[in-house]
Amino acid sequence: MPASLAPRELAGQDILSVRQFQRDNLEPVFALTEHMREVVRRDGGTDLLARRVLAALFFEPSTRTSASFIAAMERLGGSVIPITQGVQFSSVSKGESLPDTIRTLEQYADAIVLRHPVIGSAQEAADAAQVPIINAGDGAGEHPTQALLDLFTIRDELGKLDGLHVAMVGDLRFGRTVHSLTQLLAQYRVKLSFVSPEILRLPLDLMNEVRGRGLAVQETYSVADVIGEVDVLYVTRVQKERFTDLAQYEELKGYYVIDEAIMAAARRDMIVMHPLPRVGEIDPRVDADPRAAYFRQVQNGMFLRMALLAGVLGKA
Ligand code: ASP
Ligand code: CP
Repeated sequence: MPASLAPRELAGQDILSVRQFQRDNLEPVFALTEHMREVVRRDGGTDLLARRVLAALFFEPSTRTSASFIAAMERLGGSVIPITQGVQFSSVSKGESLPDTIRTLEQYADAIVLRHPVIGSAQEAADAAQVPIINAGDGAGEHPTQALLDLFTIRDELGKLDGLHVAMVGDLRFGRTVHSLTQLLAQYRVKLSFVSPEILRLPLDLMNEVRGRGLAVQETYSVADVIGEVDVLYVTRVQKERFTDLAQYEELKGYYVIDEAIMAAARRDMIVMHPLPRVGEIDPRVDADPRAAYFRQVQNGMFLRMALLAGVLGKA
């Protein structure tokens, strides 16, 4: 895995972790994302990836990541082998291994997007593959393309990254988007607040890494402690699928609900984000608030993935 990737250097590379991206190389990725946005708004897309094929292999449910990768590929003139409607219809259900599945798909496709419930599965796939593997979420590990679109959204909405106060709320333990975004934000001069119940705190190794970079860091159980100060409130779902004890999940799932009363205490120029899906953490009445950025965030996912696909397939 190369130390650092700009769009052109992505050619032929896997995208497994945000650790591959340094802040200096992120600006060209974001510039290409803005370009893709212009192209889509002006012409609907381009033929940059004509005759290129992407395989989308999803072992866990997805709406946004799968749909945006498919839309991104199609808006670039390419096509997709979608194994997104349940691997039960593939030969995985006959017991085929992940490496064999990957080695098969790469006979047809130029790159493979993989979502899988096991941490490290994207690396396992990359070890088996000759074509680039893009990690679309490996269990409670990472979700690097989500974190890149999250960072793009913050920069796009607020015009900067340095100097911001970002609070992450909810399931910081199992939330892979939080794990990836925290590592990216740690490269900037930001204040990070981690708001969670005790049992869902950010993993210690990540917390130590953030503290080791000398960033201002706060941990609290209470949204009220941070709501008046934050530039970004990044809300997350309690990750039901990672719990072995469902009674514990039931206790935790309603812990935070961002509603109009909470928003009344927030700054006028802040934004609320969520990787989605939400299952009660943000009251739908907040959607009409201009500070609710989560559906704009969804759209940015397609533009950002267009930029990544162009890079990985050597057309950036
Ligand atoms: N969609 C995101 C993920 O797959 C967040 C979530 O599911 O809560 O990690
Ligand atoms: N944000 C995200 O990964 O959404 P999906 O799980 O719907 O792909």
